Amino acid sequence: ATGLLLDRLGRPMTDLRISVTDRCNFRCSYCMPKDVFDKDYKYLPHSALLSFEEMTRLARLFAAHGVRKIRLTGGEPLLRKNIEGLIEQLAEIRTPAGEPLALTLTTNGSLLARKAGALKAAGLQRVTVSLDSLDDAVFRHMNDVDFPVADVLAGIDAAIAAGLGPIKVNMVVKRGANDQEILPMARYFRTHHGGKVVLRFIEYMDVGATNGWRMDEVLPSADVIARIHAEFPLVPLEAATPGETAQRWAYADGGGEIGVISSVTQAFCHDCSRARLSTEGKLYLCLFASAGHDLRPLLRGTASDDDISSAIGHIWQGRADRYSELRALHCPDDDSGDAGDKAPRRVEMSYIGG
Ligand code: GTP
Ligand code: 5AD
Ligand code: SF4
Ligand code: SF4
Repeated sequence: ATGLLLDRLGRPMTDLRISVTDRCNFRCSYCMPKDVFDKDYKYLPHSALLSFEEMTRLARLFAAHGVRKIRLTGGEPLLRKNIEGLIEQLAEIRTPAGEPLALTLTTNGSLLARKAGALKAAGLQRVTVSLDSLDDAVFRHMNDVDFPVADVLAGIDAAIAAGLGPIKVNMVVKRGANDQEILPMARYFRTHHGGKVVLRFIEYMDVGATNGWRMDEVLPSADVIARIHAEFPLVPLEAATPGETAQRWAYADGGGEIGVISSVTQAFCHDCSRARLSTEGKLYLCLFASAGHDLRPLLRGTASDDDISSAIGHIWQGRADRYSELRALHCPDDDSGDAGDKAPRRVEMSYIGG
């Protein structure tokens, strides 16, 4: 509908992350700590959730503005009833050039063994699986609901068998909690699945307001790379697409590639092209934002597609967010993860989907 849409820092909007539920069956301490997300926690009521038709209507308008890739997130997206139905609708969307969108999903893998075939059949292209440890005891402790690692590994196998590869596996590294698992994870994914899995190490981030983030629990990506390089020499790779979250490295012996996502020690805001839509229809311009732009009243009122489209355009054009860069500038040694009492409360990871 429009020309190239750019924000105030000249960044295009090419990616849309849609959170489809704020619920999860895991309680990872860095994301949904049990003492906060307990049985009294108020999740979004059903009436607040966007329907699949509402999400698809918005996705179509975002595609007209330049979005080329949609990632479904949560909470845990596979908990949303009939998620395949949403994927089928999104798979119908075409870009202005007539291309289908790239459709991906980030999951904890717990329901993947059961759902991989149906997701592929609905039109999903790839999945990213979060996995913090191969050691069953460490994994059960990290997810904090005693979920066995074998079931997630079976989910990864099922996703590959269903044709949802190449699969990415995300490991959030928390110093003192699972950093001893870096090398076992690297060894496992180098040899299994014939190089079809790309393992990525994520620096533990100060998202949200409940995880008690501390700088001394962040293991810098440079240390991750050094540890792996000592056992398996690595060579840096060029970015595959601009605005990528991960820096890529290849094993010098041809054993595939890995990535590091270094939001804390090496911010990547300068070409951040990601818009985020919450389950209740709020558009967020940054993972660390404290407020979103509510599109639901437009969807449920009398606004036309053109009205909504121009609202999205104006919101993106006003965007100047670059939280990670500012954090690095202002408080490189701040270990509180808290910008002071006056700062508004940041949105939770389980609400905005990472
Ligand atoms: P690909 O595009 O397939 O490489 O996936 P991705 O890295 O965009 O998505 P994924 O869901 O796998 O996210 C990996 C990690 O990067 C998660 O911890 C996200 O929260 C984090 N991440 C993704 N986008 C951003 C971002 O814009 N800013 C920051 N700070 N972190 C991000
Ligand atoms: N820091 C870094 N990554 C996180 N994730 C969730 N919380 C955090 C955090 N505090 C990761 C999940 C998943 C991705 C969407 O975000 O493990 O891989
Ligand atoms: Fe659930 Fe993912 Fe958050 Fe863990 S990180 S609690 S799996 S949404
Ligand atoms: Fe984008 Fe915000 Fe992450 Fe920077 S901190 S990369 S602006 S989402």
